[in-house]
Amino acid sequence: MTSTNLHVVDHPLVQHKLSLMRERDRSTKGFRELLNEIGMLLCYEVTRDLPLELVDIETPLTPMKSPKIAGKKLTFAPILRAGVGFLDGMLALVPAARVTHIGLYRDPETLQAVEYFFKAPQDLSDRTAILMDPMLATGNSACAAASLLKARGARDIRFVCLLAAPEGIAQFQAEHADIPIWTAAVDERLNDHGYIIPGLGDAGDRMYGTK
Ligand code: URA
Repeated sequence: MTSTNLHVVDHPLVQHKLSLMRERDRSTKGFRELLNEIGMLLCYEVTRDLPLELVDIETPLTPMKSPKIAGKKLTFAPILRAGVGFLDGMLALVPAARVTHIGLYRDPETLQAVEYFFKAPQDLSDRTAILMDPMLATGNSACAAASLLKARGARDIRFVCLLAAPEGIAQFQAEHADIPIWTAAVDERLNDHGYIIPGLGDAGDRMYGTK
C-alpha cells in the first residue's frame, strides 16, 4: 500500500462522528445526517491545496488584493447511490460546484462494477473532480468510476471515502496511482461477501433505510 497518496483524516470530529455511524442501532436519519456532516469535513481537507489567485476587491474602507480560488473550480462526482450521502455536506461548503452523477452498481455475484448512468458537465477537463463513495471495499466501483471520469476528459481527480479496506486501497492505487485518496479510516479487511470489517454495514441501505 503506497501511503504518500493516502490521506487519513484523523480530526477528532470526523473520528467521533464515524464511531456514531458505525453503531448498529443508529437511525437512518442519524446515519444520513452524520454522513453529510463528515462529507463537509472531508471536503475541507480535500480542497486544502486548491490554488488561489489574488484579485482586486474593495472593502468598505479601501481597495485591496485578496485571495480567491483560481480556475474553473470543482465538480463533485458521487457514485450512485451511496456517494450521494456526501453531496449536500460538500455543496454546503462549495455551493457553486457542478455535480457529475456516476451510476454504478456492484454485481452481487462477481462484485464487479456495472455502469448504468453517467452525466457530467461539458468542461470536465477544466475542473478538479472530487470522486466520492463512502466505502472503498474491493475498489472495483471506485476504479471503474475513475476510469469513466478519465475517459470523459477529467485530468485532476481526487477520491474521497469514509472507510477504506486495505484491499480496496491496493487495487485503486494499482490502477490509478495518480489519484490521491482521502478517508476517515482504514479498516482491517474485507469479508467473503466484500463487506468491510469492522465497517458499518451497507452504507446505501443504512442511508436510505432499504434493509
Ligand atoms: N459497500 C458497503 O456499503 N459496505 C461495505 O462494507 C462494502 C461495500
